[in-house]
This record gives sequence, structure tokens and C-alpha cells, in this order.
Amino acid sequence: MSKEEKYTDAQLAAFSLDRATIPRHVAIIMDGNGRWAQKRGLPRIEGHRRGVTSVRSIVEEASRLGLQQLTLFCFSSENWKRPPRELTLLMHLLKQYLVEERREIQRQGLRFKVIGKLHELEPVIQAEMQKTIEVSAGNDGMTLCLAVNYGARQEITEAIQKIAVEVRDGRINPEDISEKTVADHLMTATMPDPDLVIRTASEFRISNFLLWQISYSELWVTEKHWPEFREEEFREALRAFARRDRRFGGLSVGKEAAPQA
Ligand code: IPE
Ligand code: IPE
Ligand code: MG
Repeated sequence: MSKEEKYTDAQLAAFSLDRATIPRHVAIIMDGNGRWAQKRGLPRIEGHRRGVTSVRSIVEEASRLGLQQLTLFCFSSENWKRPPRELTLLMHLLKQYLVEERREIQRQGLRFKVIGKLHELEPVIQAEMQKTIEVSAGNDGMTLCLAVNYGARQEITEAIQKIAVEVRDGRINPEDISEKTVADHLMTATMPDPDLVIRTASEFRISNFLLWQISYSELWVTEKHWPEFREEEFREALRAFARRDRRFGGLSVGKEAAPQA
């Protein structure tokens, strides 16, 4: 996407948004596809299919709003517990999205990334992902990161294994292991932590998503199911984010000098 297609300050103001309070990184737990479909007497997969349309809308909107990164939770390491038929259809949709979206990712100048245990996915899916990662690596737009077959506990466990090997081989001293060492061994190494986590379909839980990275993220839950979550809902989440007072354990900006009660 060319720079001109990004929202101007005036356009942002018309949405009651201000560039200064736009989050750098938003991560979304896209939930409620099945319930959306069931409420309409449709098979669950119809919800997933509609969900892809929401993905397209939100990716483009996030880029127009000037986000640095958008991370989408597409498939968790626990989602393999679903019926085989749903799994087959989900993997088919993912494959289709990867192939069809490559051109759009290039048009918008996005940098495509994935996190998760990718080696457990079908080889053709891995290959399609790799192709998009490579062709989009030189782009300078928003990073679009898909979490596929992702689980935060597994990610942290793998990081511990990698650090343990480095300790065993004498490449790092246990006392030198810092928060940065841990962060650098996660699948999200080099990515900023999410500022805002959105979850759709009224579930107030994290479901094994980015446990380390969301220590100080703002959380926003909406009743909307993912297939009905579109640009306006996304901007509503950003307006709510702008009103939050992020203290990171300290005091609100401007309160430091306030007299003690
Ligand atoms: C989210 O929708 C998509 C995936 C987890 C793959 P769900 O399929 O979880 O929909 P609900 O929560 O059952 O409604
Ligand atoms: C979380 O949704 C995973 C994704 C959105 C990919 P789930 O529907 O799997 O979460 P639970 O089972 O309700 O916690
Ligand atoms: Mg769900």
C-alpha cells in the first residue's frame, strides 16, 4: 500500500482517533466463528469462511490506521481436539487464504510472518507460508503475523530448552539469563509486545495466547463474533485503548509530582 492510502490526521480525527494513541501492536483472539454460524442454523465452517472476510477487512484497516504490527490467533495448539472434518476444512481455508492473499499482501506492502509449531502443519501449508514470508520480507509496511498451531506454554517450554542447550554448551552463564534472553528465544523475538489484545465473542480468557508478551497489554473483549467484527468495531477498540491509563506499575503521567494523600 502506498503511503497516501494511510489515514491522514484529519481522517483519524473524524473517527475520534489520534495518531499519538494508536497502538503499535494489536493482537486479536478471533473467536466465535462457530457460534456465529450455529445461531444462523449454518454449519460451523460457514462461520470460519465468513471469518476470513473479517480477516481481510481488519488487516487492511490496521494498515491504514498505521499499526506497526497486527497478530492474529488463527489456530491454537489445542484446536487439534476438534472433529477431523472441522480440522480438514480449517486447514483448507488456511491454505486458500495463503495462496489468494499473497498478491494483496504485496499490494499493501505488508511484511508477513508466522508463529507456531509450523513443522506440524501440512508441507504444502508450510511451503505457502514460506513463499509469502520470502516475497514480503523486503516490504516496509505493517507486519502481519499469523499465530498458527501456536501455544504460549509450548513456546516458553521450547525457549527454555534452547537456553538450556546454550548453558550446557557453555555459551551462556545461568546468572546472565535475563528477561531479554528469554524474549530473544521466543518465536516473537524482534517483535514488539502487543499494546492491545482484542478478543471477540465475549470470552474473558487468554486461551494460551502470548502469555509472556502480554504482561502489560490492555485487554478489550467484545460481544461481537469474529465474522461480524469489522472496521468500525476495530476502531471502537482503538478508541477504548486511547482512554486507558497505562501505568506499567508506576503512576499516571503527570501524577508523579502530586502531593501525597
Ligand atoms: C474461532 O472460532 C476460530 C478458531 C478457534 C479456529 P471458534 O471455532 O472457536 O468459534 P466458537 O468459539 O466455537 O464459536
Ligand atoms: C482461541 O479460541 C484460539 C483461536 C482463536 C485460534 P478457542 O475457541 O480455541 O478458545 P477456547 O477453547 O474457547 O478457550
Ligand atoms: Mg472458540
